[in-house]
Order: sequence, then structure tokens, then C-alpha cells
Amino acid sequence: EKGEYRHYMLKEIHEQPAALRDTLTGLFTEDRVLTAILGPEAEKRLHEVQNIHIVACGTSYHAGLVARYWIEDIAGLACNVEIASEFRYRRVAVPANTLLVCISQSGETADTLAALRHARHEGYLATLAICNVPGSSLAREADWRLLTKAGPEIGVASTKAFTTQLAALLWLSAALAQTHGAPPEITGEIVRALHGLPTQVEQALQQDADIQRLAERFANKQHTLFLGRGPLYPIAMEGALKLKEISYIHAEAYAAGELKHGPLALVDESMPVVSVAPNCQLLEKLKSNLEEVRARGGQLINFACETADMQDQDGITHIHMPWVNSCIAPILYTLPLQLLSYYVALVKGTDVDKPRNLAKSVTVE
Ligand code: M6R
Repeated sequence: EKGEYRHYMLKEIHEQPAALRDTLTGLFTEDRVLTAILGPEAEKRLHEVQNIHIVACGTSYHAGLVARYWIEDIAGLACNVEIASEFRYRRVAVPANTLLVCISQSGETADTLAALRHARHEGYLATLAICNVPGSSLAREADWRLLTKAGPEIGVASTKAFTTQLAALLWLSAALAQTHGAPPEITGEIVRALHGLPTQVEQALQQDADIQRLAERFANKQHTLFLGRGPLYPIAMEGALKLKEISYIHAEAYAAGELKHGPLALVDESMPVVSVAPNCQLLEKLKSNLEEVRARGGQLINFACETADMQDQDGITHIHMPWVNSCIAPILYTLPLQLLSYYVALVKGTDVDKPRNLAKSVTVE
């Protein structure tokens, strides 16, 4: 079933263009969001939403963190994101007209399911499951479901489930914006970016060989830092989780602006630092953060847009990514980080598809 691929994880990384195409089919016209997928009342109910709470675990939680940037920026609605195992055991203040969104690949994660059940009597306007398994408990128990169509994900490390969750969440952000009267140019731009996404993901995957070459540098490292800003900060978190999970190298992610507040003390020649820096208004700021790392002898690997005009220099390697609309950059920049962790794990000889101590689906708390 792995076909030409050595591991399920690599196969699943390469399935992402198709998984995204399938997930996005039927969600838009050429330039408008179609909300009917959530049911006949959806348009009206989405219009009523004033707040969003997102709950999930692990990689799905990272998808939620990206969504917060999108929802607040694109739809202008307040959004909180919380780890399900925390949410389920505390009293949550739920403002009027709040939509609860539970994100889970499997739809059987014990904490996420318990969070949905816990929320039942908390006065939410509606509950939405973003899920990859149609018949799962989460998908059945939520008021609405938005199914990702990633197909079965066998590798314990989540890859195609994550990027399809992000696509679904960008759709949700655009749907909320549209139902709250956003100008059609705003939603139209997102819809067009999503239409082009599968092809751009295909292009980004062609960097496979460049990334494989970088993996050697991590072979005898114990620790790595990942940096990002804005919606790319949760992507750095996801990159760090992936590396930890399958190569057993300790990795931590920071919002780049936090460097000086502590982690810079860790940086020396033996600390690789990975950053994700698409061409956006935060790039100049990130450049100065990167300079701080380089000045301390840190080995930097920076994934940046080819238009960003960043040249390799001592201690900095840039991997150039194709230009994309900034709204889909978090999805695109996930790919090189998945590939990086995969190839580092190969160098380390770990069990890529079944990392030690982990299960694919965490159905007990
Ligand atoms: O099935 P779920 O999305 O609810 O799973 C949540 C986490 O257990 C999962 O994302 C986990 O963090 C992955 N192994 C990460 O690669």
C-alpha cells in the first residue's frame, strides 16, 4: 500500500495536493464561499456567530492556532483556542453567540470528544466538528461537520490531515467573513488563493531533494529552535512537534519576537535554528531576529519566499519557496518542515511511521 514510497509518512506528504483538492471540492464557486455544506440553516446561523472557541489536541491544536489569526484578521471575530485536555476540566466563560469548533483528524481523541460533550450545556450557539473520519464520534455528535477528505492517515505523525484542516479553517474564516458582510474582494481573494493551492503545494514538494540535503546537519544535534511570526508561529510549533515526534530531537518553537526574552541564551554553534518567513509585512522584523541568531554562531535554516531577496551568508541557508498569497502561506510552509523532519528521522534511523511511545489515536486521556 505504500507503493513506491518507503514510508507511509512520505506517501502521505505527497498525497497533499490530492487531499486538498478533494477537501475543497464543493466549498466554493469561482469567487464565493458556499455555506450550504453545513446545512440549510448555515448561512443564517453563521451570520449570528460573534465569537469562536476552538478546541483540539496536538497537531490539530496547531491548526486551531493558525485559524485564530485568520478568523480575527479576515472575519474580524474574536477567537480563542485551547487544548482540549485543559478546556474540558475548567469553567469556560462563553460569550453570547459563540461557535465551538472541535478539530480532530480521527474524531475519536478522548479529550476532544470530552470537550465537545462538556460544552453541551455551556450555551454555545452551535458546535462544529472539523474531522477526517465521517462516521467518527466527534463528527456524529457535533451540530455541524466539515469533513476533511485527506483519506486514511496511517503514519502516526499527522501530515495531510493537518494541511486539509488548515484549508477547511481558511474556508470557515472566509465563510464567516462573507456572512458578516465582508467586501467581496476580500473573500474573493481567499477563494482564488484556495483554488490555486493544490498546484502550489505540488510545486513546493519539488524541493524534496534540497531539504533532504539539509537533514544531515541535524544528525548529531540534541536541540533545535523553530521560529515564526504571525500565523507562521503555529507552523513553527508544528515543525517542532514533527521533529520531536519522529526523530526524537528536542525542538522548541518560539514566536521570533520572544527570542530576546530568554531562548537566545541557548543559541550557540551547536544549535540549529529553523525559521519560516514568507514575504509579508513581518519579514523585516524577522530578519533582525535572524541576525541575532547568526551573531551568536547559530546555524540558521530559513524558509523564505523567492521574492524576499535573502541571500545565503555565513551561518544562514535560505530555502526559497514559491511566491504565494499570504493567506495560504501557513499551509505552504508546512510542507518543507514535514519533509525536514522526515529526512532527519531517516538519518537517525528511527521508526518513522510508528514512533516510540505514541499511538495514532489517543482514545484514553
Ligand atoms: O486525531 P486527532 O487530530 O484528534 O489527534 C490529535 C493528536 O493526537 C495528533 O495530532 C498528534 O499530535 C499527532 N501524532 C501529531 O503528529
